[in-house]
Order: sequence, then C-alpha cells, then structure tokens
Amino acid sequence: MRPTSQLLLLLFLACISLLPIQAPAADKLQKGQNLTDSNGDTLLSAGGSFTLGFFSPGVSTKRYLGIWFSVSNDTVYWVANRDQPLVDKSGMLVFNDAATLVLLDGARRTVWSSDFTGGSSASVAQLLDSGNLVLRNGSSVAYPWQSFDYPSDTLLPGMKLGKNFWTGTEWQLTSWRSADDPSPGEYRRTLETKGLPELILWRGNVKTHRSGPYNGLYFNGVPEASTYMNMYPLHVTGLTARPTEITYGYTAEPGAPLTRVVVNHTGVAERLVWNTDTGAWISFFSRGARDITCDAYGKCGAFGLCDPEAALSGFCGCVPGFRPISTSAWQMKQYVGGCQRDAVLECRAGKTTDRFKVVPGVKLPDTQNATVDIDVASLEECKARCYANCSCLAYAAADIRGGGNRSGCILWTDAIVDLRLIDSKQDLYLRLSKSEFGMYRLSIYAFLPSMVFFVLEGN
Ligand SMILES: *[C@@H]1O[C@H](CO)[C@@H](O)[C@H](O)[C@H]1NC(C)=O
Ligand SMILES: *[C@@H]1O[C@H](CO)[C@@H](O)[C@H](O)[C@H]1NC(C)=O
Ligand SMILES: *[C@@H]1O[C@H](CO)[C@@H](O)[C@H](O)[C@H]1NC(C)=O
Ligand SMILES: *[C@@H]1O[C@H](CO)[C@@H](O)[C@H](O)[C@H]1NC(C)=O
Ligand SMILES: *[C@@H]1O[C@H](CO)[C@@H](O)[C@H](O)[C@H]1NC(C)=O
Ligand SMILES: *[C@@H]1O[C@H](CO)[C@@H](O)[C@H](O)[C@H]1NC(C)=O
Ligand SMILES: *[C@@H]1O[C@H](CO)[C@@H](O)[C@H](O)[C@H]1NC(C)=O
Repeated sequence: MRPTSQLLLLLFLACISLLPIQAPAADKLQKGQNLTDSNGDTLLSAGGSFTLGFFSPGVSTKRYLGIWFSVSNDTVYWVANRDQPLVDKSGMLVFNDAATLVLLDGARRTVWSSDFTGGSSASVAQLLDSGNLVLRNGSSVAYPWQSFDYPSDTLLPGMKLGKNFWTGTEWQLTSWRSADDPSPGEYRRTLETKGLPELILWRGNVKTHRSGPYNGLYFNGVPEASTYMNMYPLHVTGLTARPTEITYGYTAEPGAPLTRVVVNHTGVAERLVWNTDTGAWISFFSRGARDITCDAYGKCGAFGLCDPEAALSGFCGCVPGFRPISTSAWQMKQYVGGCQRDAVLECRAGKTTDRFKVVPGVKLPDTQNATVDIDVASLEECKARCYANCSCLAYAAADIRGGGNRSGCILWTDAIVDLRLIDSKQDLYLRLSKSEFGMYRLSIYAFLPSMVFFVLEGN
C-alpha cells in the first residue's frame, strides 16, 4: 500500500470514529451521571424488558420518574416520586458522589432520593432485567438499596409482600389514587401474618377481600393459581414456629411470559400476563370487593356461607345448623348480621356429645384469631384437639400437600367469618349439636340448593 492511501485510510477511520453514534440506552448510571427529562434520557435493562425514565400518566401533565414494561410503555410498575410530582420537564435523576440516587427539580432541589443507611458502598445504579433498580458495588449482589423493597401498586417476580419482625419492615402494595395520579390511593394489599399467611385487600382500614389462607400450595381462595403455578411458582416463607420474617412472593420460570400482580385504583387485585401475539395483557386472576357475588369480605356475616351460584337467594345462606339472626334483615338483603345456632352445643370440661359436620369445598374462614399448628400430623389429630376443647367451634387441615393425608391444624374458637363455596379441595369441619345429625332436618333457611345438599348429607 502506498503511503497516501494509508493516510486516507487513517483519515477515513478517524472520521467514522467521530461520527455521532446513537448509543443504545445504557442500564447503568455511574457516579456523577444523570438522566435528564428534557433529553428523553432513559435506562434500558440489559435484556430490554424494562425501561426507567420520566413519564406523565394518563391526561396528567405532571412528570414522574418510573419504570415501565418496554413492550407496554403505559404499564408503569414502579414510581419513585409518587407524592412529589414535578411540574415540568426540568427534572433530572443523578447518581451522586454520596452513592445516592437523587431526583432534582428545575431549581435543583431534591424531590426524591434513595436514602439508605448502608453507607456509600455502591459504585453504580443499575436497572436489572428483573425490573429491579439497584445500587450495587460493581457486580455485587448485596444491594444497599433496591426498588423491589419499595413496591408501588405492582408485584413482579422476585418481589415480596409481608413483614420482617426484626427490622419492622413491611412490604405492601398501594394502589394509585387514579389512572392519572400515582400517589398512594385507597387500596392496599398486605400479607396477614397472624394465623396462616393470607393476602388481604384493604380499603383504608376496612378489609374488603381475602385470598384465603395459604395451604402449602396456593392461597386457598384462589384455586385457579394451580393452573399457572408451573409458570409462576409461589413462595411463602416463615411457616416455622418463630419466624423472623413471613413473606409471599413468586418467581417466573425461564421462558414464561411477562407477568405482574397489580392492585388498581378501583380496588381490583389482578394477575396479568403479556400475550406477545396480541400485544395485550390477559387476566389470569382477578378479585375485588366490587364482585357482586361472594368476594366482599364478610358479606354474609358471622356463620354465613356465601354461594356464588345462588343468585336467587342473594348469594347468602347460613352454615348447616344455623339460621339468620334477623329474618327481616335478611328479607331486606342485609346479610351482615349473620346467623345463629339452631341447637346449643353440649360440652363441659372436655366431655361432649357434639359432632362435626363437613362443609366441603370452601374458602376457609378468616384465620386471624384462629390457632394454627403446622406440625399436627393428621386431620384425625386435629379433630381430636378440637373435640377436646369446648371453645373450639371448627377445624380444618392447614396443609394439603400430602394429597389425601392432610396435615397441620387450624382451630377456630370465635365466629366463622367470610366463608364461601369455591372449587377448592379444602373442607371445614363444624361443631354442631348431636341433634343436628341422624335425621333429615330441613332447616327453614336451607334455601340454597347447595345448602339443602349439605343438610341432607347428614352424617
Ligand atoms: C448531565 O449529563 C450530561 C451528559 O450526559 C452532562 O452534559 C450534563 O452536564 C449533566 N448535567 C448535570 C447538571 O450534571
Ligand atoms: C409509547 O408507545 C407508543 C406506541 O409505540 C408511542 O406512540 C408513544 O409515543 C410511546 N410513549 C412514550 C412515552 O414513550
Ligand atoms: C467494592 O468492590 C471492590 C472490588 O470488589 C472492593 O475492593 C471494595 O472494597 C468494595 N467496596 C465496598 C465499599 O464494599
Ligand atoms: C381495574 O381492574 C379491573 C379488572 O380487570 C378492570 O376492569 C378495570 O378496568 C381496571 N381499572 C383500571 C383503571 O385499570
Ligand atoms: C379477631 O379479634 C379481634 C380482637 O378481638 C377482633 O377485633 C377481630 O374482629 C377478630 N377477627 C375475626 C376475623 O374474627
Ligand atoms: C382451648 O382453646 C383455646 C383457644 O385456642 C385456648 O385458649 C384454651 O387454653 C384451650 N383449652 C384447653 C383446655 O386446652
Ligand atoms: C398417606 O399416608 C400413608 C401412610 O403414611 C401412605 O401409605 C399413603 O400413601 C399416603 N397417602 C397419600 C395420598 O399421600
């Protein structure tokens, strides 16, 4: 090659290296780097699933820092400044020298930060392909701060709900206030850690829906979970005697479609799965207090039994051996007063003639005040414990993993609340007077076809 052509080649190479190449969005911010709203800066997770950037929800013109699904940019799963919107596009996210993420407004005041007490051990802020925004030292997996610890309204694979009893930390979902306003709204989803773990949907401080207790496989009132557990296995930790932490979460098997569990501002808790063929979210599970049948917490009152098939009777009936406390209230469709026993129990100092009647296929009642012993080996032993204690009104197995050999024991000593029929493999055993057995006693209020079935069943 002649010297001139060598020179030309060098010049040529120098030119291309100077061309402004549109760099693919990075997944990291190093110390001192920033994301600027007015430039449309974003972070893109390495596999491309998640994007972090600034957005305005719905018709709002306010600006928020959030993380969304890249395939569905209006599905924001996490918002940093839920309560502190920016009024214009002058915002900037900086990973500062103190190793803290700070969101600054146009006047460079801090409106949000990833404050943590772990010192400044992080060298980088990174958006992982799980959707988790983390601070980390190099590639260390110890995160002094991570967005997964501060859920908004959405639970992604790898996140958790529940409580740590040592640190007092509680992880919960809080709905947006409206479709245009991500500030904390009326609805929360928490993991109840008294009794058996179960998910509770709250409106303010009122329970509006329960998932049913965890039965070793899924939450007892969500039997459809068994149809997608192979893709999204559930993980409930802390079922031991004195746990430091009780949590619920789920993971996604490799290759499983994108999924999320969300509490929306209308009070619906829902699992959605992304359908790549149609480019839309499909609902795999949805529950809320607005359901007109049996999902509203305690709809039929104490010792009521809700049957979602029994539209003609307003869905409410009583458990076998009980009748409404106020027939006039029930005629007016006011069911929350609940039901009372037809025949008194006979039990004194452990001596009893009472018997147990099975109420099959139910979402088990609230276990908040129930006594739970996960180590009881069999349903027989559980029955014996309930039988021996005059204050025990009902029992059920806690763990159905043994197939026919159910284990664990739940004992109820106060009112049975929020019982409904559901296509579950769990049964409730109810303490009744012996006079309820042995004859076909058609209770006047056995007005649901399915309840007639229970009563006729006898035993
Ligand atoms: C933000 O980062 C850009 C480069 O990405 C830089 O030019 C700018 O000066 C930075 N702004 C501030 C306030 O640090
Ligand atoms: C979201 O995606 C739609 C369709 O691809 C596009 O028109 C819109 O500009 C995007 N919005 C944002 C904020 O990126
Ligand atoms: C960060 O990682 C480097 C290299 O692994 C290590 O030398 C350093 O001590 C770490 N810093 C902190 C604060 O953990
Ligand atoms: C909330 O979820 C319900 C159930 O899927 C849905 O019908 C409703 O449109 C949702 N509302 C919003 C604002 O997303
Ligand atoms: C549990 O007990 C508390 C305190 O007595 C009571 O307020 C609450 O209603 C009870 N919960 C259930 C489900 O019975
Ligand atoms: C019966 O059960 C209640 C509630 O679990 C408990 O407080 C009480 O000690 C039990 N009584 C006996 C005799 O075991
Ligand atoms: C129940 O336990 C018995 C004895 O421990 C065992 O032989 C049987 O296979 C078990 N049945 C199921 C369904 O697990």
